[in-house]
Amino acid sequence: MAKNTLSFVCQNCGAAYNRWQGKCDACGEWNTLAEEDTTGSVPVSIRSKRKGRTFALESLSGKTQDAPRLSSGMAELDRVTGGGFVRGSVLLVGGDPGIGKSTLLTQATSMMARAGHRAVYISGEEAVAQVRLRAERLGLADAPVQLASETSVEDIVSTLSEGAVPRLIVIDSIQTMWTDTVESAPGTVTQVRASAQALIRFAKKTGAAIILVGHVTKDGQIAGPRVVEHMVDAVLSFEGEGSQQFRILRSVKNRFGATDEIGVFEMTGLGLREVTNPSELFLSERDLGSPGTAVFAGIEGTRPVLVELQALVAPTSLGTPRRAVVGWDPSRLSMVLAVLEAHCGVKLSGHDVYLNVAGGLRIQEPAADLAAAAALVSSLVNAPLPTDAVYFGEISLSGAIRPVAQTPARLKEANKLGFGRATLPESARGDAGGDAGLSLNSVGNLTTLVAEIA
Ligand code: TYD
Ligand code: MG
Repeated sequence: MAKNTLSFVCQNCGAAYNRWQGKCDACGEWNTLAEEDTTGSVPVSIRSKRKGRTFALESLSGKTQDAPRLSSGMAELDRVTGGGFVRGSVLLVGGDPGIGKSTLLTQATSMMARAGHRAVYISGEEAVAQVRLRAERLGLADAPVQLASETSVEDIVSTLSEGAVPRLIVIDSIQTMWTDTVESAPGTVTQVRASAQALIRFAKKTGAAIILVGHVTKDGQIAGPRVVEHMVDAVLSFEGEGSQQFRILRSVKNRFGATDEIGVFEMTGLGLREVTNPSELFLSERDLGSPGTAVFAGIEGTRPVLVELQALVAPTSLGTPRRAVVGWDPSRLSMVLAVLEAHCGVKLSGHDVYLNVAGGLRIQEPAADLAAAAALVSSLVNAPLPTDAVYFGEISLSGAIRPVAQTPARLKEANKLGFGRATLPESARGDAGGDAGLSLNSVGNLTTLVAEIA
């Protein structure tokens, strides 16, 4: 008889303890420990006696029959996955409830099915009728998707093992799946991990691509999909502000592609619409001519994206002034503020500073420094920046403006969208190419920029 091993497992990160405690030492979350039975179905005594079977070892140069990539039929989704779904790979799509994961994947499976591939959509959350209603609303009811409302991993694997190998299987969501090889309740970390393992094994064996949907919850009610992140080939995160229509699909981990690509969608009454030119979208609601806004010519992955940075600098009533930033790195904001104070004589210690990246985009590039500085100074002196100008360049601690990559791509995008001038690092002028179509204002030092604005 195998002894029952009860333990307390953190529902956020999967760390196990033999006593209950309020805080998980591994991930630092509170109240995430739940009691679980972690006994496997195979007793240890049997497992250790089993002799391993032999298998054939193969060479690296073996033949793969089909194209390893399969386009989803949605260009923005393909961009993020690195060119389509890889056969036998497992992808996790995470995101807040209601953000549009089911909508996105209903559209993707329908596209695949219409292209003649066997595509299966398994919902553990909604009844078949509900999924049908959504498909109807999306105008996809005629797509030959194979649909089921199921939660048992064993049943799913047996069903899908029959007939042609499915090219794409969507499991919505992994938290609702359960396998009878472990005793824990559905939704616990142990169940989520075991179910994901079984599905990953199925994908590797058959060559089907599987997409797992994972809810991200902060309160620990449902197992965080974080334990699954290490097991899958790629992790995509679907993000967006509740109040806004934009949705950004970001690659967090990708064994088969780059991780800095984003896909941009707009949620409409008829489902998700792909946004092929994000700059137009992010600049669509510009507040022309008001102080404190600067347009940053950025690069997201392989494509240029223009986005508006909005700053508000106001006298503070607090002992320690507030610094709040949405969509950018707070420590970079602190650095830009420190350089403005130390080298340019811009006194901000008596002011609250707010910085916002419009449209819910999150910028990671240091190239946004110059645009942020321009927006901050513009707000402080209450002087609007030219409405047809874009800014990019990295600021060093000495106040010098350093060059950034892909100057021509940034200028080309700005030109395409009707901008007439660009403020850029002095040393980048050479990269700009002869005819950028814009008037170039190259600055070598932040002091020069501040003098121009103020
Ligand atoms: P859903 O895909 O169910 O989200 P998730 O699976 O991530 O929980 O989408 C939820 C929201 O999207 C819901 O509030 C309604 C909205 N929606 C639209 O605005 N247009 C549509 O065409 C559809 C299908 C949904
Ligand atoms: Mg859903």
